[in-house]
Amino acid sequence: KGARVDRIRSFIRTCPDFPKPGIPFKDIMPIVQNPDVFFDTIALLEEHVKETGAKVDVVAGLEARGFLFGPPLALRLKCAFVPIRKAGKLPGETVKCSYALEYGQDTIEIQRTAVHPNQNVVIVDDLIATGGTMAGACTLLETVQANVVGCLAVVELDYLKGRENIKHDVHSLVHF
Ligand code: PRP
Ligand code: MG
Repeated sequence: KGARVDRIRSFIRTCPDFPKPGIPFKDIMPIVQNPDVFFDTIALLEEHVKETGAKVDVVAGLEARGFLFGPPLALRLKCAFVPIRKAGKLPGETVKCSYALEYGQDTIEIQRTAVHPNQNVVIVDDLIATGGTMAGACTLLETVQANVVGCLAVVELDYLKGRENIKHDVHSLVHF
């Protein structure tokens, strides 16, 4: 397991000063460009879910990069995939949540009937930085009365202490 995580880590590229000076951006795209590494990434996420023993009804993925990892995980878990999108992209009745960014704010939303009350949901994103996006997703799912049984990410920037903003179980594969 450690060797698989180390290999995944080696496929994350640090891009200095992107998108702004002083920000060391973590680029996860090399992972999805290597089928073996991508497969291991999804397998490790699946193994963690299985280890928790939770019965998962829905994998919720966060636009945009959570859409890379959420659907393959949902296929492996044989459950539904539900997108959480940036505001204004989903038709029908939606539930919205705004969260703070470094400058300004962002709003995400989910279709109200996409997840049913009491369904067990795992949320997946590529990366947890401040935790604002993941915490907002948790709020959305609580609003539709789902049970958040886990928050998964491929990468977590531990020094930003994002998990302190998230009330649910957080598991990330690679830590910086
Ligand atoms: C990035 C990343 C996470 C989020 C993490 O998404 O993919 O979703 O930021 O940051 P946080 O923990 O501080 O909220 P972003 O909205 O930049 O763009 P994307 O649409 O490419 O995923
Ligand atoms: Mg994102």
